[in-house]
Amino acid sequence: MPEALDEIKIGGMGASRKRVEDNRFIRGKGNYIDDIVLPGMLHMEILRSPVAHARIRSIDTSKAWNMPGVRLVLTGEMMAARNLAWMPTLSYDTQAVLATDKVRFQGQEVACVIADDPYIAKDACEMIVVDYEPLPAIVNPQQALADGAPLIRDDKENQHDNVVYHWEVGDKEGTDRAFAQADVVSKLELHYPRSHPSPLECCGSIADFNRSTSKLTVYMTTQAPHIIRAAVALVAELPEHMIRVISPDLGGGFGNKVPVYPGYVMSILASILLESPVKWIEDRTGNLISTGFARDVYLQGEMALRKDGKILGVRMHTDADHGAFFSDAQPSKFKIGLMHSAFACYDIPAAHLTARGMYTNKAPGGVAYRCSFRVTEAMYFQERMVQEAANDLGMDQAQFRRMNFVRDDDFPHRTPFGFLTDSGQYGKCLDVGLAAVGYDDFLKQKEEARKNGRLLGIGISTMTEPLGAGNSREYDILGIKMFDSAELRVHMTGKAILRTGAKTQGQGHETTWAQIVAHELGIPAEDITVEEGDTDTAPFGMGTYASRSTPVAGAAVAMVSRKIRAKARKLAAHLLEVSEEDIDWELGRFYVRSARDRGVTIQECAMAAYSNMPDGMEPGLENNAYYDPPNLTWPFACYIATVEVDPQTGVWDVLNMVAVDDCGVRINPMIVEGQIMGGLTEAYAMANMQFITFDSEGNCIGSNFMDYLLPTAWETPGFELHEVVTPCPHHPIGAKGIGECATVGGPAAFVNAVMNAIGDKGVRNIDMPLLPDRVYEAITQKHDVSGAPPIRTDDE
Ligand code: CDP
Repeated sequence: MPEALDEIKIGGMGASRKRVEDNRFIRGKGNYIDDIVLPGMLHMEILRSPVAHARIRSIDTSKAWNMPGVRLVLTGEMMAARNLAWMPTLSYDTQAVLATDKVRFQGQEVACVIADDPYIAKDACEMIVVDYEPLPAIVNPQQALADGAPLIRDDKENQHDNVVYHWEVGDKEGTDRAFAQADVVSKLELHYPRSHPSPLECCGSIADFNRSTSKLTVYMTTQAPHIIRAAVALVAELPEHMIRVISPDLGGGFGNKVPVYPGYVMSILASILLESPVKWIEDRTGNLISTGFARDVYLQGEMALRKDGKILGVRMHTDADHGAFFSDAQPSKFKIGLMHSAFACYDIPAAHLTARGMYTNKAPGGVAYRCSFRVTEAMYFQERMVQEAANDLGMDQAQFRRMNFVRDDDFPHRTPFGFLTDSGQYGKCLDVGLAAVGYDDFLKQKEEARKNGRLLGIGISTMTEPLGAGNSREYDILGIKMFDSAELRVHMTGKAILRTGAKTQGQGHETTWAQIVAHELGIPAEDITVEEGDTDTAPFGMGTYASRSTPVAGAAVAMVSRKIRAKARKLAAHLLEVSEEDIDWELGRFYVRSARDRGVTIQECAMAAYSNMPDGMEPGLENNAYYDPPNLTWPFACYIATVEVDPQTGVWDVLNMVAVDDCGVRINPMIVEGQIMGGLTEAYAMANMQFITFDSEGNCIGSNFMDYLLPTAWETPGFELHEVVTPCPHHPIGAKGIGECATVGGPAAFVNAVMNAIGDKGVRNIDMPLLPDRVYEAITQKHDVSGAPPIRTDDE
């Protein structure tokens, strides 16, 4: 009898298989957008506005046109003549491709030059003379709402103020009743500052329109190639089958490569006009000041509490700063993304959220930076609020969480805002975390240290978050339902190619998708090629963001493998000359139930599909699957940080950071750990150092990596990782998403730890980043420290 296959050896589920994509990445053989060179390719540069808000009196491009090597200079006026000066956004707003009437943020696209090489294009941009009539700039929602505030979007017919939307969700009356019964009401106000996803590779595109075939091929740094193809077809009125979007290797995305940027549109138009390939590669400052920012939300709320620690209800209000255009992607039902996923891990009878979005003179904001549509802000507020509430009650913060958690036997559980969570072991995760960090001992050390003037602190952040939008009943982008797909073709010799509608940006899909196929079919993972990102070959998909790949595309991979297995079973029955009912499956092999040693391998079935199929059977062994998940997946995380704050300087050091993640079944434990470490690094950066803000004139402070800091291995603290596994009940392989958990849940653990160290009842909040001067101010002045813009940059 043949030996059973060892799933780990063939690189199936649970194998910490090395990332196959790293073979090319670490050898410098990745194929990024800037590596692509097409014959006759021209180069595009963008002229950006130096001011945040100004009327454009005139643009003089004559000197630029006259420079040798310049092929085309585009202005808003020329775009308008082709009805392309404005484009629709992914959130039903409009965005200027090139400014016509006004500029509305510093860095906005005003003109572009296409030339023989990028240096000529850049020099020519500097020869363009724009006459601006400055207008007052608005840099936060409070200014946007003030009486007499200038109207930013005067291009929109029915827009009479700077409000983008009002939205609410939850049970207002029930929440009012809960507050009427409260023994204690705890309040908190904070600002989740603007941050930038800052992938190491900036954005770019190469548009290549071929007049002889009418085919437009666009190489583009996009996390969602199929959505872009649809958008190009609709906006440019080009036939969809004549558009091919290829997203090559991406040097990170983190949500920054979801929106449609003007540079993409202009390179396409330029290629059509010039009938040559046109390349646009954004520079670092362009990326940092003009592409999708994240967060920038003012959150305030209150919690109704019973004396014994029971949470009775929550009220939340958010004011989101969207910048000049509402252009980040959201499911169309939910204006402030999934902000209402807040408090999902706690058993709270009633909650109500009101949300307002505002236009300001800043670049478009609100992209889901390593996050599912605003869950980062939601979880940050939740965990800061929970800590403050525990303090107000005089309760231990771990005990307060534990007593309010949804219990293991309470699933499925309807959250106070209406989501359905379906699984988790929240108490167990907390226990693992507390044991790992040595909670009780640390509290004793903390007391001892305080006697000696040292400030130690411990911060906890626990959360379940919704990953894997959507189910198509509730989730769509611009009306396109959120689902995903996979296509699997098994060749004659049992090797295979898998294509999905997702698009990896460093998460390792080429490795992990093959592991799912190996698990389902017993084909060794090394025999499976994975391809994504080419709309001419990959099946339609909604792309990769919001940690939706494993919950949705990953599920489609399992489902298509099962379809292949079902056909292989028929082939096996034919080869073994028994009926299908008489055969069983073990990894990689069908066998006759009554004679286990009589069997055929999946590879033998594949050969038969091309050489020896039963009469009447369609030849070949390939299929596809579209997967519409029944629910989101709900991973859970418990992050616990310990810190020491220097009372003399406000500098704080991380002593320990323990992470306990439950993302259901782990496909590749090593990749999961990498995702958690990367996420915690970003969380630490946000809490500790990343500062991007605006002065009163709308100048962006933080437009380069000297000012906006990315942590290196030197600054990043060590992390201690632990796991709990609660399989997802509806996912075919029991997996839940993980990509963003640590970025979402991590910041609150660091901030809670610093607040805990300061331990002063007069200070409820310091806004991130917790820069030493802010912490020092809070310690010495005993008041909250706000990070809201504008900052002062002069000596006034
Ligand atoms: O959508 P995105 O790829 O950013 O996030 P994800 O679905 O959470 O997956 C991130 C990486 O972790 C992928 O390579 C997944 O296959 C892997 N993963 C895993 O091995 N096991 C899980 N339970 C979840 C993700």
